[in-house]
Amino acid sequence: MVTRRVLLTAGLSTVGAGLTGCGPRRSNALVSPSSSQVAAAESARRPGPEHLVVLEASPTEVDLGGLTVPAWAYGGRLAGPALRLRAGEQLVATVRNRLPAETTVHWHGVTLRNDADGVPHVTQEPIPAGGEFVYRFTVPAPGTYWFHPHSGLQLDRGLSGPLIVDDPQEPLAYDHEWIVVLDDWLDRTPEAIYAELIRTGGRTGPGGMMGRGVMGTVAYPHHLINGRLPADPDVLHARPGDRIRLRLINAGGDTAYRVVLGGHRMTVTHTDGLPIRPVPADTLLIGMGERYDVLVTAADGVFPLVALADGKNGGGLALLRTGGGMPPPAGVRPGELGGLLPAYEQMKADDKTALTDRDGARTLRTRLTGGMMRFEWGFDGRVFDHDRVDLVLSAGERIRLEIANTTMMWHPVHLHGHSFAVGDPSGPRKDTVGVFPGRTVVLLFDADNPGRWMLHCHNAYHAEAGMMTLLGYRA
Ligand code: C2O
Ligand code: CU
Repeated sequence: MVTRRVLLTAGLSTVGAGLTGCGPRRSNALVSPSSSQVAAAESARRPGPEHLVVLEASPTEVDLGGLTVPAWAYGGRLAGPALRLRAGEQLVATVRNRLPAETTVHWHGVTLRNDADGVPHVTQEPIPAGGEFVYRFTVPAPGTYWFHPHSGLQLDRGLSGPLIVDDPQEPLAYDHEWIVVLDDWLDRTPEAIYAELIRTGGRTGPGGMMGRGVMGTVAYPHHLINGRLPADPDVLHARPGDRIRLRLINAGGDTAYRVVLGGHRMTVTHTDGLPIRPVPADTLLIGMGERYDVLVTAADGVFPLVALADGKNGGGLALLRTGGGMPPPAGVRPGELGGLLPAYEQMKADDKTALTDRDGARTLRTRLTGGMMRFEWGFDGRVFDHDRVDLVLSAGERIRLEIANTTMMWHPVHLHGHSFAVGDPSGPRKDTVGVFPGRTVVLLFDADNPGRWMLHCHNAYHAEAGMMTLLGYRA
């Protein structure tokens, strides 16, 4: 089926234009987003019924719970609106750009057709201020995903929302679902923060740069859960004994969170939307862009869901209420924070999700490079160039991608358009993986989705400074 793409704003060039610059890896030796291979890969997904949504991005004021602040948001609210559809359906999303800047929308984690991936100057021309763009793509797999702009630092102004894809044959049984969006909140513009990072190298500043944080650089004044401050938290009401599925999403710009539900042990069922063999956890470390689904059986009382800003001060709070009692204080730090924290190595993909064992993986290597001194971040010592494809794949091959972190900071690295197994074929399937300083991660995946795909750090400030690169498929 040929997909219709509607460009409603005059003056936009066709998708894929501007990608035909010179240089060995810039030519049409690579699959472009508008190529027939991309259309063929989409047909193979057997596009189902259309699910129409309108998403308006605009400047607005939001109430965080006693504090009203300026924001840029979708539909005028934070952490939402949640988009929800069934696996196999086509999302037809009309994005109206009411921002005073150009924008795009990226559908984080969805293994979608390349020309709907929302990367400015790579998969589409940006949507101009006042313009409109229709994204149309099949959503192949159920899971917890999210969406956000891929333009500059806009994500850190509040533009993001959950994208939940239901499984028509959902194997889990539960009484409640709780979508939990974690976010770090600035009282200045991200552009002002970025300018200061460039000026000071992040070393100093009353304006709130952290020293040599391993996990993050920016000291945020607030941490939100579902757009609420700890002083006036989001509350989930349930009954004792109810089973609750939490869909945890870190939509932060520069903060990894340690998440616990006080008084409860969690059972982790999904990593970045895909099922694993369930493992117990008291706490999870969730990097920017990562998602975990967990199940809990509710105890009787009032319980804090705490997202502690790792390596920083403060954190977010929400409440689970199944009975009477006083809510815990806003600064509560449940004992589970020091409890069982499963690492990726302790997780295994569910049998149906695991990557097949297969011979002949081709190894590609890349290094995360840079440092705080000049606040310069990149891959292999180079900053991002949207015209340069650094890693070239051939359709059908198994790729073993080794990413070495040569920096002194931690980076959550995200690959577009694919899900990889972490470590070995039986490892958890993910699309975003935290890499500690000095460590190397191995990502295994099959080159099964032609196009040009980003590989980047999901720290908004590192990405902006250049820690992004491109994978491309040979034509
Ligand atoms: Cu959630 Cu390229 O990003
Ligand atoms: Cu980074």
